[in-house]
Amino acid sequence: MSRWKKNWRLVPLFAVMTFLLAGCGDPTLSALRPRGPVASEQLFLMKISIAIMLLVVVVVFALYLFVIIRFRKRKGQEGIPKQVEGNHVLEIVWTVIPILLLIVLAVPTVYYTFKHTTNYVQDKDAIHVKVTAHQFWWQFEYPELGISTAQDLVIPTGKNIALELTSADVTHSFWVPSLGGKMDTNTNMTNVYYLKADEVDVFKGKCAELCGASHSLMDFKVKSLAQGDFDAWVTNMQTPAAVPADAKQGEELFKQKCLQCHAIDPKGLGFGPNLNGYADREMLAGVLEHNDENLKKWIKDPQAEKPGTLMPKVPLEDNQVNEIVKYLNSLK
Ligand code: CUA
Repeated sequence: MSRWKKNWRLVPLFAVMTFLLAGCGDPTLSALRPRGPVASEQLFLMKISIAIMLLVVVVVFALYLFVIIRFRKRKGQEGIPKQVEGNHVLEIVWTVIPILLLIVLAVPTVYYTFKHTTNYVQDKDAIHVKVTAHQFWWQFEYPELGISTAQDLVIPTGKNIALELTSADVTHSFWVPSLGGKMDTNTNMTNVYYLKADEVDVFKGKCAELCGASHSLMDFKVKSLAQGDFDAWVTNMQTPAAVPADAKQGEELFKQKCLQCHAIDPKGLGFGPNLNGYADREMLAGVLEHNDENLKKWIKDPQAEKPGTLMPKVPLEDNQVNEIVKYLNSLK
């Protein structure tokens, strides 16, 4: 079998792979399936750059093929063909066209780059959130609403979410692919960015900057709610949770063993995540399924679940852990 024929047999394989890979990915974690205006505009930038690059590749390859076929050595041709040097028209053409293409690419890129860092913090219609990245979790503070939370960034749909991003330790990168591109979080500066979600959903967020042993486990969620549900959530977060009688013992233990790091009050900021509203969070520690068994495992040995976490292994008896779990589950 000729080599050509052998190679052609690979074509169906590539075709199948293209279909398979194109279907890859989580719809709530994909920059190719935008769910808000910022992500849509950024996808437009990707499309326009790919289109321009494709145009260049196609034209260059077409010319290249044309030239090697049209000017190939013919039968009976002897000696070196006529040598040509310099052609003003061609030189101008291949200088001007790339400049024009770069302008076409630059205008929307510069426009949207500045647009997406518009500072909406002072905007009365926007929701202001201060994002602080920690090894390996996310803190979300809503200064105007007097609440703070961790791991789940809860937002209303259809509103600009004015983000001010910083870091408590090393450089991380805030990334919610379905809603918008990455933004670094640094210790020495505050970066401004905004996002907006069109629909009610839970979007996955990631840390996109290698920041330590558990970088890959530094996940978070963006939960978009209808305005009414968001307002109810805010009111609920502003109201300290009533502790049921059977969770009182756990509350006491929590105060003794955990409160040094974890706040449980509307505004509280601590060394560790504020656990106010813990029971309603999507995940546990950002990556574990939210259930009692995982919570016990997590409290008993955080390092085993998230290597490098700053949460210490607190000496606790099994029954003490059970009480604390009962208490945390009451924080709705
Ligand atoms: Cu934080 Cu990677």
